[in-house]
Amino acid sequence: MHFHILTLFPEMVLNGLGTSIIGRAQRDGLLTVDARNIRDYTTEKHGHVDDYPYGGGAGMLMQADPIMRAYRALCEETGRTPKVIYTTPQGRLFDQNAAKELAKEEELVILLCGHYEGVDERALELLHADCYSIGDYVLTGGELPAMVMVDAISRMVPGVLSNRESGETESFEGSLLEYPQYTRPETYEGLRVPEILLSGDHAKVDRWRRDQSLLRTMERRPDLFEKAELTKEDRKFLKKLREAREDQG
Ligand code: ADE
Repeated sequence: MHFHILTLFPEMVLNGLGTSIIGRAQRDGLLTVDARNIRDYTTEKHGHVDDYPYGGGAGMLMQADPIMRAYRALCEETGRTPKVIYTTPQGRLFDQNAAKELAKEEELVILLCGHYEGVDERALELLHADCYSIGDYVLTGGELPAMVMVDAISRMVPGVLSNRESGETESFEGSLLEYPQYTRPETYEGLRVPEILLSGDHAKVDRWRRDQSLLRTMERRPDLFEKAELTKEDRKFLKKLREAREDQG
């Protein structure tokens, strides 16, 4: 998997993604992250890459030309015309499914990071950019969203996570949030680890964890809970829970 990030702040993404698990994956040769500065591609004599929006309004826009030059240079170097992703609050929501799709379908991805008020629409049109948002809030630039996307996609590349870090039972897999977890000591500030986790009965532990996932998802993310695929045992647990709650009034 190869990521190329077009940005005005390459050091920001390279520092962030050069650390921890994604940094290790790069050193292990499982993926590459290249970030190039769009400013290096401007032909403007003062090095400007932005200008006022036509029609007026607040803020500055990134101009199309330096972006297109950076993209075309990349195409020439790689001998490919890769898919371009633009990070923007106006994009499709980037969720676990989107991460999975991109990890499966793409081998070379270009992420374009906007700054200021965004980029000239013509750049997005010429690039046929796919727009993604990481959530309904506005950030100061597209670098953090690009880093979020690289991280979420990369951890699905085989070998990036070690067995100890494996993501198989994590939140969102199967539309449920993950169950609560505990490590040593058994009692901390008067709070004890749930007894069942100390019982050594793996079947019971698995059932308890599944029940906790159901509870947690129902309470915290009813939108996800609605989409969850429930087993017969899940329904039994939920029925019992409903009855117990009714008894309590
Ligand atoms: N750029 C600014 N805010 C963003 C967001 N929420 N998602 C993606 N890109 C952005």
